[in-house]
Amino acid sequence: MQKVNLSDDIYFIGFNDRRTHLFENIWPIPHGISYNSYMIVDEKITLIDTVERSYIDEYLNNIEELIGDRQVDYLVINHMEPDHSGALKAIVQKYPGITLVGNKKTFGFVESFYFMPQNVLEVYDGYTLDLGKHKLQFQMIPMVHWPETMVTFEETTQILFSGDAFGSYGTLDGGIFDDEVNLGFYEVEVMRYFTNIVGKYCPHTQRAIKKLAPFDIKMIAATHGPIWRSDLEWILTRYNKWSSYDLERGVIIVYGSMYGNTQRMAEVIARQLAVRGIKNIRVYDASKTHPSYIINDVFKYKGFIVGSAAYNNAMFPNVETLLSTIEHMAPKNHYLGIFGNFSWSGGGVKNLKTFAEKIKWELVYDPVEEKGALKPNMKEELLKLANAMADKLLTEG
Ligand code: FEO
Repeated sequence: MQKVNLSDDIYFIGFNDRRTHLFENIWPIPHGISYNSYMIVDEKITLIDTVERSYIDEYLNNIEELIGDRQVDYLVINHMEPDHSGALKAIVQKYPGITLVGNKKTFGFVESFYFMPQNVLEVYDGYTLDLGKHKLQFQMIPMVHWPETMVTFEETTQILFSGDAFGSYGTLDGGIFDDEVNLGFYEVEVMRYFTNIVGKYCPHTQRAIKKLAPFDIKMIAATHGPIWRSDLEWILTRYNKWSSYDLERGVIIVYGSMYGNTQRMAEVIARQLAVRGIKNIRVYDASKTHPSYIINDVFKYKGFIVGSAAYNNAMFPNVETLLSTIEHMAPKNHYLGIFGNFSWSGGGVKNLKTFAEKIKWELVYDPVEEKGALKPNMKEELLKLANAMADKLLTEG
């Protein structure tokens, strides 16, 4: 293996996954993902998180290449999700004297996923672990992304091992550090990772950002994606903006359409928004674009207009999937418009109204529902819906 140093004796020992199609078996990762693990070689040898189980053999080999016959003393478990704890059991088997470092919630997860841990060190906010030259301080950041999640701050080098926080989809294709890659590539992948995985926990992310603010952090080493050492503001500014629902003027229009009538309604709305001066308009066919990408725009733009054809007296299934994902993540501060189409007894708009009640976003205009092909009177209603959305967005400055 090629050594990748974060400092003289702190190493990156992660892996790229270009095989998996869906992260968590839900989210598309066409550009793959990395599982980042780190090792500190000091008087005490310490691993920070491990890797996904497919990489166990190579992972153990790499550790051995770095430390030879020495034993690993500590495994810090910042986050127990199996994409990072996949090699935990193998590590304990190979280094039976190892101590697992976690908090009061961590070891319950170890027991439920793997085995009853024996050698454990329970840490808490501010606890410091002396490794010799290096000192690790722990801070709890629950729900970014699981209840047991914590971060580890190495005081000598001022490196923050941040777990999922500040992570990204996308493999590390040669470049490991932010100054070795074109961040333009990671722009969408960082945001998708945030919105897809951590987006439900925005208030917790805000609390974590505030909690970590007093630390003089020189480097952020997350469990996925690039290591941030040159431009920490790049990632910190974005996380702060997204997790505080700081939205831009723009509208997402999503529709589910079988034969084009609902799509035509969407096109009318989109055109009128553009005529009114809205420049950020994204129109999506819910059957074509995965929610992973649409959710990104929901965390970016303030307007959301959704249309559904009736399907077996219900909402169009792919629209329903998207809306249940949005409902689950519950992003805030949006304006909402709804429309739809039916052939006999309806079901699309009826269920969109139920979504509107649950999500509690401000409905800018009455729901618009057409039967079959779009006719002039209903086209007028769509124009009014678009105007109502434009009015709301434009008056906000
Ligand atoms: Fe990358 Fe929440 O695990």
